[in-house]
Amino acid sequence: MFRVVASRMIVPNVHLLTLEAPAVAREAKPGQFVILRACEEGERIPLSLSDWDAEMGTVTVIFLNIGFTTNQLAALEEGKTIPTVVGPLGNATRIEKYGTVLCLGGCYGIGSIFPIARALKAAGNRVFTLLEARSAYLFYWEERFEAISERVIHITRDGTRGYRGHIDRLPEVVKDLGVPIDRIIINGCTFLLKRGSDASRPLGISTWVSLNPIMIDGTGMCGVCRVTVGDATRFACVHGPDFDGHQVNWEELLHRRKAYMVEEEVPFRTSRCNDHGCKA
Ligand code: FES
Repeated sequence: MFRVVASRMIVPNVHLLTLEAPAVAREAKPGQFVILRACEEGERIPLSLSDWDAEMGTVTVIFLNIGFTTNQLAALEEGKTIPTVVGPLGNATRIEKYGTVLCLGGCYGIGSIFPIARALKAAGNRVFTLLEARSAYLFYWEERFEAISERVIHITRDGTRGYRGHIDRLPEVVKDLGVPIDRIIINGCTFLLKRGSDASRPLGISTWVSLNPIMIDGTGMCGVCRVTVGDATRFACVHGPDFDGHQVNWEELLHRRKAYMVEEEVPFRTSRCNDHGCKA
């Protein structure tokens, strides 16, 4: 069993969970993910690692409380346990000295882009961070990004902080930075990944995204996380999760992600977990 060390909502609907998982923490690298189950009868869901502490033996994930299982995870109190933390899974983000890198994170992706930005900085890159949210009150961990970034830039849908609008304004942001960008890395929801990739395509900047399709085993066995990248079929869990955003078949991915939308919203009372007395 894996003990909950910290559990709190950091901004509305976005939750931070730190779990005791020493074997995972020892091996974790930026860009990898874990698969969790909130209870014995629960589904397995993949969540990107936002941080870890090998010495303390803990890993931290940040997620949007949006469906049945994330609701269970968000309800966990410190000291409770969950039955499954599998990982670290997936390939680590390729950290090299690229030159100048723009790290873009939105929603839960603000959390998972952080260790990537930190590692890029440590590898000698000049790091700019672009954070995207509906409104200013949804940003978090800004002091962490300030410490490792040349500049932290914001885009908000309602214009309460930084640029007003969506990530479509990326070309303008890049132009205003006034420095050549060698690579863009995006973490966040599939819409953000797609729109960010679309926006960077005309700029000709290599753009890498961390895909988040539905997964079951996370080890290449079930095929559920199948994505099309260029002409190839790839499994996001073992070939990714990072892929060239300009090569991903976004329409297919967005379609496949909707497969269990209804089930995600099934209320707790119909859950087998409750039937079995399983309390998250
Ligand atoms: Fe099963 Fe990737 S999650 S193959």
